[in-house]
Amino acid sequence: MTNGMTLLDEVAMVSPHKISIKHVTHTYGVGDKAVHALGPVTLDIAEGEFTCLVGPSGCGKSTLLRAIAGLASPSDGQIDLRLPPTHRASVATVFQDYGIFPWKTVEGNVRFALGVLKLSKADARERTDLWLERLGLLDFRRAYPSQLSGGMRQRVAIARAMATEPDVLLMDEPFAALDAQMREMLQEVLLEVSGNSKRTVVFVTHSLEEAIILGDRVLVMSSRPGRIIDDVQVPFPRPRDTAVRQSARFGEIRGQLWDRLRAEVEQQVADQRRGRSS
Ligand SMILES: Nc1ncnc2c1ncn2[C@@H]1O[C@H](COP(=O)(O)OP(=O)(O)OP(=O)(O)O)[C@@H](O)[C@H]1O
Ligand SMILES: [Mg+2]
Repeated sequence: MTNGMTLLDEVAMVSPHKISIKHVTHTYGVGDKAVHALGPVTLDIAEGEFTCLVGPSGCGKSTLLRAIAGLASPSDGQIDLRLPPTHRASVATVFQDYGIFPWKTVEGNVRFALGVLKLSKADARERTDLWLERLGLLDFRRAYPSQLSGGMRQRVAIARAMATEPDVLLMDEPFAALDAQMREMLQEVLLEVSGNSKRTVVFVTHSLEEAIILGDRVLVMSSRPGRIIDDVQVPFPRPRDTAVRQSARFGEIRGQLWDRLRAEVEQQVADQRRGRSS
């Protein structure tokens, strides 16, 4: 570079955001069978921001997340992630169905994910132990997923994703299948581990409460095709814990989000009724 700028500096000037989504749409299938699932969505997510995505069932949340993850390409529009070029495991995903390898032990699953980072043996062992401990899995390190409860399997999936210390963490209803206590425990873990990192997180949930407890920002999507119809900043400082749900401000934000979401859900139900009667 003649002007002393690195390629990364130039990219940063073009897009100051960690994730930049422009006019993205997604349609599944073609012709009579085409389902316009998403968009258009235009959205910027800053580095280190914890963004929660809520919206009616089937509105395209998973479609958007998969597109950000690069697992599906949008039908139209553009998604840019500003990632350090040398960082090998810069995006990690956690989905509702765990996605861990059944033929590997708990420890083996975490170790496998660390493989791409080319750490020394000692560093890999240390990092694996750290994350197994943080997620309460040390005693189960030699167990196979089939020997674990759903909550534990999901903890393995989270340990595996977090151990790679990804730049961007994408989570699609990771706690949806868990009981209330396990869910709260994992919310605490996530608050703790995301509180003092610059990790950018996009987290899809059906729970408004969960979105407000975890997020710096909550985006509400419309019914299908999902568009962003509300964007609410969550004012609670970090470090934070799940006790924020007891504050009056929490109730106000929840009310505001619910009003917006209820209108969409009612619209969706009305559309479904009209569809059935026509
Ligand atoms: N592979 C596919 N082929 C055809 N249609 C699909 C496919 N995947 C999703 N859809 C449809 O696209 C729409 C959006 O799906 P998506 O899974 O993104 O929604 P969602 O908001 O994640 O829903 P949920 O809240 O139930 O998880 C839905 O109507 C769904 O039926
Ligand atoms: Mg989904």
